[in-house]
Amino acid sequence: MPLLRKIAPVLAAGFALASINAHSQDYSDQKQSYKRPDLIPFPEEAPYSPQLATLGKMLFFDPRLSGKQNISCASCHNPSFGFEVPVAGAIGATNKPLPRKAPTVLNAAWISPLFWDGRAPNLELQAMGPITAEGEMDGKFPQIIGRLKGIPEYNTSFKKLFPMDGVTQDNILTAIATYERSVVAGSAPFDRWIEGDDVAISPAAQRGFALFNGKAGCAGCHTGWNFTDSQFHDIGIPTKDVGRAAFAPDDPLAQYAFKTPGLRNLTYRAPFGHAGQFADLDAIITFYESGGIPRPSKSPLMKPLSLSAEEHSDLIAFLRTLTAEQTQTALPNLPN
Ligand code: HEC
Ligand code: HEC
Repeated sequence: MPLLRKIAPVLAAGFALASINAHSQDYSDQKQSYKRPDLIPFPEEAPYSPQLATLGKMLFFDPRLSGKQNISCASCHNPSFGFEVPVAGAIGATNKPLPRKAPTVLNAAWISPLFWDGRAPNLELQAMGPITAEGEMDGKFPQIIGRLKGIPEYNTSFKKLFPMDGVTQDNILTAIATYERSVVAGSAPFDRWIEGDDVAISPAAQRGFALFNGKAGCAGCHTGWNFTDSQFHDIGIPTKDVGRAAFAPDDPLAQYAFKTPGLRNLTYRAPFGHAGQFADLDAIITFYESGGIPRPSKSPLMKPLSLSAEEHSDLIAFLRTLTAEQTQTALPNLPN
């Protein structure tokens, strides 16, 4: 590397760079665990093909999967808002806000189980929920299958991809899940920093990274490149929703516990929390400083946290570096 060789004698001569080094920290140990994966994990029974993902994308954006043909997955998981919608409760078929915030579909390939309470083991089973739920798309599979079979382009695509049985409930769900697995958060300034570009994120954000992994204890639950352990925790948010406890009644720690959300592309995804209780990052960091309300189920990792005003803003500066530059998601052309 000729460039390195040029810099090396300068360093050896004890030039200005040495003093910069004295101030910047080496986070190499912590940085290791945040490297982006190279490949998307597709399950053996639903391997990736661009044709299948394209079909799934059409279905994801197609309101004909809903009872009244007016709501699609993208109505509540809109690419412009980090595959969410900027409201606490998204509105579905009954015109009433849903009690929980729509989580993002970004990086869903790595997330299991799904839903805030983890009630779906995989994306295929997850997708069945909103299509048939009265408060979401209120669709009936026999009717949807009939509709799709009546649309020549859909019918042909399904027959090509699934020669045995064409348009079926399972095949619709497989296509949607395959598209979702292909929805990955783009590279962010943080990723470039992890890859070795030392100036990709500001010194404030680097101090925020140190807090995140150290004093603030965030990395106790927000782990790895997608910043989630896929576990359930009660972090002490006042709520009547029992969360995970509905599916794990015998686990005392499951009361008010929700799945740790990933922290990618937060900038597009406010409000935050399982019911959109926090308007912005400032509000959620203020909540973490409080340590949450005392409750027997509250995670032992949650304690009041004393941050200076500078540390508070350093932590926010760090979280902002996890957002990729906005990428355009081209809308699919839906067949007639
Ligand atoms: C009316 C709004 C609405 C529609 C339409 C909708 N969703 Fe959702 N989605 C939500 C809400 C709210 C949740 C969280 C519910 C919960 O956790 O109990 C959710 C959860 C999810 C999750 C779980 C993410 C995670 O991290 O656990 C995925 C994936 C998802 N939806 C995909 C879809 C797909 C695919 C469709 C279309 C077939 C769809 N959604 C339609 C509102 C909606
Ligand atoms: C004990 C595990 C745990 C710790 C420690 C923790 N979190 Fe969380 N975090 C969660 C869970 C669980 C949620 C969702 C809780 C809910 O909505 O009820 C969450 C939600 C969030 C959200 C909202 C994301 C969204 O999509 O709505 C942000 C941002 C966040 N945490 C950042 C942090 C930061 C910064 C710290 C450190 C100060 C931290 N977390 C510490 C588990 C944890």
